[in-house]
Amino acid sequence: MADTGPNVLIAEERIAPRVDELAARISADYEGVDELVVIGVLKGAFIFLADLARRLTVPHRIDFIAVSSYADGDQRSGEVRMVLDLRESIENRHVLVVEDIVDTGRTLRYLVQQFEARGPASVRTCALTRKKARNEGEIRIDYLGFDIPDMWVVGYGLDYAERHRTLPYIAALDPATLDAD
Ligand code: IMP
Repeated sequence: MADTGPNVLIAEERIAPRVDELAARISADYEGVDELVVIGVLKGAFIFLADLARRLTVPHRIDFIAVSSYADGDQRSGEVRMVLDLRESIENRHVLVVEDIVDTGRTLRYLVQQFEARGPASVRTCALTRKKARNEGEIRIDYLGFDIPDMWVVGYGLDYAERHRTLPYIAALDPATLDAD
C-alpha cells in the first residue's frame, strides 16, 4: 500500500482529516466574509491548496505566487524574491496565504510583509507543515497542519529536486539520498 513505505512520516489517512479540520476552522473564522482570497505558494502548495480549497464553505477565489531564493543552489539559504506575482489586487480583501512548509520562515515572513503593504483587509497564514526547530524567530502561522522534525520531507506537493511531489503521503527523504547529490 502506498502509505506504508518505510519513510512515511505522515500517512495519507492522517492528512485528509487534518485538512478537513483546517478547512472547517477557516470556514468558521471567515463566515460572513464576502470573499476570501486564498493564495497558494507555488509549487509546493498546489496539492494542499487544492484539497483545502475544495473543503472551504466560504466564498473564495484562488490566486498563486511563486518565490525563489537568491543563493548558491542551496534552497535553504539566501533572500526571498517573488518570481510570479498575484494576478489581482488584494486591496481591502481578506487574504489567506497557503504554504506547504515553513522551514526558516523567511518565505512566509517576506510574503506577509509584501501583502500587508498592499492594503488588504487582513492577512492570515496557513501552512501544512512546520519545522519549528528551524524557524528563525517567531513566525505566526494561523492555521497549522503538522509540526515535523528537522528533516527533508517530500510528497503531497513537496519535492526534492522536483521529485516525489505527487506521493499521496509525506515522507522523510533518506539522508543517504540527500548526501549523494
Ligand atoms: P523557508 O523560507 O526557509 O521557510 O522555506 C520555505 C521553502 O523551502 C518551502 O516553501 C519549500 O519550498 C522549501 N523547503 C524547506 N524545507 C523543505 C522540505 O523539507 N521539503 C521540501 N521543500 C522544503
